[in-house]
Amino acid sequence: LIASLEQVDQTYIMVKPDGVQRGLVGEIITRFEKKGFKLTGLKLFKCSKDLAEEHYKDLKGKSFFPKLIDYITSGPVVCMAWEGVGVVASARKLIGSTDPLQAEPGTIRGDLAVQTGRNIVHGSDSPDNGKREIGLWFNEAELVHWTPAQAAWLR
Ligand code: TYD
Repeated sequence: LIASLEQVDQTYIMVKPDGVQRGLVGEIITRFEKKGFKLTGLKLFKCSKDLAEEHYKDLKGKSFFPKLIDYITSGPVVCMAWEGVGVVASARKLIGSTDPLQAEPGTIRGDLAVQTGRNIVHGSDSPDNGKREIGLWFNEAELVHWTPAQAAWLR
């Protein structure tokens, strides 16, 4: 009941091209489902260079930026919007550190990836970026606002 006073956030989660190619889509979705968050958007998508650059605009000056854009646009990605109390920070914990070799076992990257440049999944780093990224990757009509039959575990 106390938790129900807390803010419900949205985060943008994306299975990157290597995650799709390696057949890890189901595994990654399962982690967020099992945690108890609510899926509000889901699609397979091949993104443009422009969209990838807009998504990662804060990293534009970095040396790895061109390679990052090539990687993200190299094949289909799975775009997801997830909702729940604390979902942004919690998803970052479930995903693990940017460098998969530093990511703890039990996290998605810690269990399933090796290279920073092939770290299989993205998660928004703040509630504001969650909203921004969901707006970037989804049309409003693609998002579903629904009430689970049993919502007790969400709040
Ligand atoms: P960043 O936003 O710092 O990490 P995270 O995805 O954990 O929020 O960086 C975005 C992506 O850029 C990261 O997932 C992989 C790539 N990247 C590199 O390829 N090399 C690097 O040195 C860094 C820091 C990131």
